[in-house]
Amino acid sequence: MELLVATHNQHKKEEIQQILQGLFEVKSLTDYDIHDEIIEDGHTFHENALIKAKYCFDKTGIPSLGDDSGLVVDALDGRPGIYSARYASNHDFPKNISKVLEELGNNTNRSAYFVTVLCYYSIEGPKYYEGRVYGNLLSENKGKQGFGYDPVFVPEGYELTFAEMEPEHKNRISHRKKALDAFLADMEQ
Ligand code: IMP
Repeated sequence: MELLVATHNQHKKEEIQQILQGLFEVKSLTDYDIHDEIIEDGHTFHENALIKAKYCFDKTGIPSLGDDSGLVVDALDGRPGIYSARYASNHDFPKNISKVLEELGNNTNRSAYFVTVLCYYSIEGPKYYEGRVYGNLLSENKGKQGFGYDPVFVPEGYELTFAEMEPEHKNRISHRKKALDAFLADMEQ
């Protein structure tokens, strides 16, 4: 069965493909020659995941998967949240990290979590799956791997930031992996 993943990001498609191997033939927007930019103007991770999945399903009729992820910081009342990608500046990861660290200042509550919400949209309508990884934020960057807020995020039970871990290691414990596992478990039922 085909599954259309609402992304132009080949890396994201491959990560999902790897996890869903044997169950779905995973395609991206690019595979379908869809180059539209989907406007994510929802107010929650769930709304944004729905917008992406529904857009793809309405356009193609193929069961579609939308995802939305971000960093939620306790001491910042949940910010940057759905604005994680463009908190200070669009996809400028160092600037976004600096803004979060500046706002946190010397606050001793450094707890935060990454979350991924998936929306699977089929003829039956939307279904949601969520994955979280809890941890703490450092005051300075450590490590060069990964992307986004990885250099300042240390997952619970580890001494290394996501950016210091091998990508395979991060991908085994990440919020994205947990959300995809929940989706997979439901599909296998
Ligand atoms: P997206 O919804 O997967 O595009 O993620 C939105 C934003 O959240 C990214 O641009 C990053 O700033 C942040 N983010 C999501 N997942 C991760 C992660 O695994 N590590 C670091 N930052 C992430």
